[in-house]
Amino acid sequence: MTGVPKSVGVIGGGRMGAGIAQVFAVAGAEVTVIESDEKAAAAARDRVALGLRRAAERGALAEGVEPVLERVRTACGVESLPQSADLVVEAVPEDAALKTRMLTAAEAAVGADTVLATNTSSLSVTALAAVLERPGRFLGMHFFNPVPASELVELVVAPETAEETLGLARDWTRLLGKKDVVVRDSPGFASSRLGVLLGLEAIRMVEEGVAEPEAIDDAMRLGYRHPMGPLKLTDLVGLDVRLAIAEYLHSTLGDRFEPPRLLREKVARGELGRKSGQGFYAWS
Ligand SMILES: NC(=O)c1ccc[n+]([C@@H]2O[C@H](COP(=O)([O-])OP(=O)(O)OC[C@H]3O[C@@H](n4cnc5c(N)ncnc54)[C@H](O)[C@@H]3O)[C@@H](O)[C@H]2O)c1
Repeated sequence: MTGVPKSVGVIGGGRMGAGIAQVFAVAGAEVTVIESDEKAAAAARDRVALGLRRAAERGALAEGVEPVLERVRTACGVESLPQSADLVVEAVPEDAALKTRMLTAAEAAVGADTVLATNTSSLSVTALAAVLERPGRFLGMHFFNPVPASELVELVVAPETAEETLGLARDWTRLLGKKDVVVRDSPGFASSRLGVLLGLEAIRMVEEGVAEPEAIDDAMRLGYRHPMGPLKLTDLVGLDVRLAIAEYLHSTLGDRFEPPRLLREKVARGELGRKSGQGFYAWS
């Protein structure tokens, strides 16, 4: 088993990228977070610092905030990735053209042994691998939100992903204190495919007047011991995000993922869930 990666690059220091940077820095890696410009880089650094302060408040950061933050630097442009990076995780927005650009530029900036990973939650890892010169060193490392608290990393392997690459990703996941599941690349992987299907059916049940959202959520929470009901989870993820994933899965996996009318209507009205104050629940 390999040790903690010494040097990790994270492209995009948003919600997920900042969390990914945080957990690798806490594990001891030197982390470089790449953003598009100085302003975004400063915001990314603030996000990592805030995450570390929260971890310290929870008593989950023995080392203290400052020593960990010293291991995190931000930079603009993918060409600033360290050539010696062991791992680079791409976490820019869910846009295939943007991710393709970032990954090809990253591959040109780093060494031949660097493992490249994408944190995409729905795009084809196989299609992203196809644009790379070294697809054997590439895989999906699908982290969950919030990264520091979540226990899982879904490792998504394309046909070209080398065994050694998967082995390194599994070791690193374990060293972060998380569990992995290994999934062959297919639309929605394991997590989104099942999670979205449950959410869509719950929305159809609201649409049909089967029960109120609270009742549907309680049925799953109390009856099946889900930590959260599918409608509340949809509110937290964002109805627009769920709709986009459902549309993609509908186009790739067929009619069982057809977005319900109620979901489309709510998104059109701007009822996007927690972030807009209203979804299946009212959020203050
Ligand atoms: N939010 C979630 O719950 C979640 C969960 C799992 C996976 N994901 C996936 O993670 C990825 C990132 O999602 P997010 O929620 O963190 O998005 P986000 O919008 O919070 O963060 C994206 C970051 O990328 C940066 N960025 C944009 N263009 C860039 C460029 N050219 N160069 C460098 N940085 C650039 C943005 O400034 C931003 O900070 C997406 O693929 C998403 O599907 C999200």
